[in-house]
Amino acid sequence: MNVVLVGGGGREHALAWRIAKSPTLSRLVFTHENPGFVGLGVVDAASSIDGMVDVAVRARADLVVVGPEGPLAAGLVDRLDAVGIPCFGPSQAASRLESSKAFAKEIMAEAGVPTAGALVADLDDKASFEAAVARCRRGDVVVKADGLAAGKGVVVCASGEDAVAALLGMREAFGDAARTVVLEDLLVGPEVSLLALCDGERAVPMLSAQDHKRLLDGDQGPNTGGMGAYAPCSLVDVASFEALCEQVHVPVLRAMAARGTPFRGVLYAGLMMTPEGPRVLEFNARFGDPETQPLMVLWDEDLLPWLYGAAIGHVPSGRPRFRAGAACCVVLAAEGYPDDPHTGVVVPVGEQPTGGEVFFAGTRRVQEQLVSSGGRVLGVTGFGPDVGAARRGAYAVVDGWRFAGAQLRSDIAARAD
Ligand code: AMP
Ligand code: GLY
Repeated sequence: MNVVLVGGGGREHALAWRIAKSPTLSRLVFTHENPGFVGLGVVDAASSIDGMVDVAVRARADLVVVGPEGPLAAGLVDRLDAVGIPCFGPSQAASRLESSKAFAKEIMAEAGVPTAGALVADLDDKASFEAAVARCRRGDVVVKADGLAAGKGVVVCASGEDAVAALLGMREAFGDAARTVVLEDLLVGPEVSLLALCDGERAVPMLSAQDHKRLLDGDQGPNTGGMGAYAPCSLVDVASFEALCEQVHVPVLRAMAARGTPFRGVLYAGLMMTPEGPRVLEFNARFGDPETQPLMVLWDEDLLPWLYGAAIGHVPSGRPRFRAGAACCVVLAAEGYPDDPHTGVVVPVGEQPTGGEVFFAGTRRVQEQLVSSGGRVLGVTGFGPDVGAARRGAYAVVDGWRFAGAQLRSDIAARAD
């Protein structure tokens, strides 16, 4: 099978590493550069949707796998469909579950999925804007830009005043992505990421994972794309994941199919386990980053039949096999991340964690050196018989990879120990 992988971050390195082990793979082509891809396939660089379609045609691709949300929201899957190339990832219409938080709320209401109460407001409409300000003043609110905002469009507000300030700042920060805002009731509880492989009808659970969204230890500091993740998460075992899939993923798939826009790809539900029960905070229409890093370390069979099956609307029957044990990814981020990451710093090459892997995110190779080129730079992913061992495996080697100014949390998966 000829496969094209779109995207060049840590998530895509983890996918590439797993796909490259597939006995059904003939050739792997990348649309983006990543030093981690060296030896796994060849690069045919593309940055536009047209360019990505051209790469897939040139590669005689049997399957295109899309990592990031941008190309999904821009309609890459629809374009590939038009030229007859199967693609793992949802159509533009189905990817609205991620690209519009207001749409996700509408589908959740329709499908009866448990989620936080919310007010959706159009900031260009005077009455709607005033209602939004009034809701913010009451406090206990989370202000969310409707559209894609690179993981930065959510402000958890400490007070009513903060919420009003966040609301007023949204438009300036995110432009049209924040013309519509979602004002959600503030919930409390631990979070869990539930990723399922979907073929439009069936949702096949992977393993539960837990991300660490805040920059600093103890869940302090600003929200980031994710500073580390581990799997499986003890809050949701295999049986509870199956049950949650029936309450969350399957009704959403039904609602999307009923609209004539079936969802194929990874449906990632971000849940908060509140005292009142699980509540969905968000959907992503793709693999999570960094959740994919531990999930791919644990995945224990040929990945391609699953991705291909989902893409063509027939995911294989049964459940995928995972290694017994756990995996834990510790992200090393650049100085200044998330606001203003400093790049161009030399990254030392340390040891690989036993049974795990170091995945490259914002890095490039300059002559013989590895140099940082983005906010999240590395995902050091340990493996072990349990979460504690996986965590120790990752932290045992991080010092060897530590570059000048590197930021990392010391408590990834610590609560699970
Ligand atoms: P989202 O992109 O919607 O998942 O939001 C990013 C992060 O903001 C989540 O992972 C939570 O930590 C936090 N968050 C989002 N919605 C809520 C909510 N309703 N209550 C409390 N925290 C939230
Ligand atoms: N780890 C969060 C995300 O992928 O959006």
